[in-house]
Amino acid sequence: MKEQLQYHLAPSILSADFTQLGSQISAVQAAGADYLHIDVMDGHFVPSISYGMPVIKSIRKATDMVFDVHLMIEEPDRYLDDFRAAGADLITVHAEACRHLDRTLHHIKEMGLMAGAAVNPATPVSVLTHVLPLCDMVLIMSVNPGFGGQDYIPYSTDKIKELRGMLDARGLRTDIEVDGGVNASRIPMLISAGANVLVAGSAVFKGDAEKNARELLRAMEECI
Ligand code: DX5
Ligand code: ZN
Repeated sequence: MKEQLQYHLAPSILSADFTQLGSQISAVQAAGADYLHIDVMDGHFVPSISYGMPVIKSIRKATDMVFDVHLMIEEPDRYLDDFRAAGADLITVHAEACRHLDRTLHHIKEMGLMAGAAVNPATPVSVLTHVLPLCDMVLIMSVNPGFGGQDYIPYSTDKIKELRGMLDARGLRTDIEVDGGVNASRIPMLISAGANVLVAGSAVFKGDAEKNARELLRAMEECI
């Protein structure tokens, strides 16, 4: 099953230098990253507030990378059309933030976008059992969402393995994204557990973004 998956590095612009956002995006694209992870926070679902549609619309003009929009917001249904119009390719909503997750995932797919479902560290992957066929991707949060630069929560690895087992048993090739505390030294463990889309914020944007992204991609290639 693993060899049929495509592997992606998804640099998270949450840790970028916003005075240089365009050139930071060009740098990670030049390094070979093809996903760009965009964290949207509302100050309710998570404690912090980040950025939204105007920023996405603006950077959409700068790159053809896949815009992987991670909505850490309550009632995301209210904004799905706006995020699509701003340029999202993939929208991930949190299971904990959606009263009717099935409906929300259907809505994302009906808009012609890829749909992702995210679970917080304390949420078991089993909440997604029935909606897995609707998901192009499942995002396992490996930190409590809201901030970059936090430490990886070790039990997340068990959740990745459990989820990949559930997917394999049902013949699903769904992507598994891991978000939080990802760095080069954790990549072999994450890939062997079954993850294939790796988000990295501080590990990419702290220092030389292009060099860091190249190193993370090299570490991924060594595991595939
Ligand atoms: C956290 C965000 C992450 C964050 C990851 O709530 O969802 O995408 O940017 O940052 P690092 O890679 O620094 O843990
Ligand atoms: Zn994220």
